[in-house]
Amino acid sequence: MSTRRYVVGKAADLADGEKMAVEVGGRSIAIFNVEGRYYGLLNRCPHRGADLCAGRFLPRVTAAVPGEYHYDTEHTFLVCPWHGWEFDVTTGQSYFDPVGMRGRPYKVDVESGATIAGMQPGPLRAETVSVQVEDDYLVVDLRPQRPQRAQSARTEKQETV
Ligand code: FES
Repeated sequence: MSTRRYVVGKAADLADGEKMAVEVGGRSIAIFNVEGRYYGLLNRCPHRGADLCAGRFLPRVTAAVPGEYHYDTEHTFLVCPWHGWEFDVTTGQSYFDPVGMRGRPYKVDVESGATIAGMQPGPLRAETVSVQVEDDYLVVDLRPQRPQRAQSARTEKQETV
């Protein structure tokens, strides 16, 4: 098992729509629960470095004509608390500049207690007792993630302009 993977907490402690920041491997990672799936971003806005975990989720706003606003709750963005840039937490892409500006994504897995109990076996053995681990845990993977293509986000932006 890679040493770049860190157990950061119980999955049950991060409810749908919630977020939390954790320190792993010398960096702060923001973790998000989006409809039961977990995503990680470097907790540093690529614009000026704000704490992205302090941002709010807001729906995408479009307008077919001036003054008529539509709030699209199917597409929510994380809004940076400093200057309001919007990010897709599932990919790290910004809505403002989908090709050139993105947060750094990290993979977050949910693994059973039984799995993580075997992650770091020590060299020495002592007398053992039976311990059962039943919860699921969040595991952050700090290995670099391959960027996803920005084509669909760019097309959506052009359609709403
Ligand atoms: S620091 Fe995030 S938008 Fe400026």
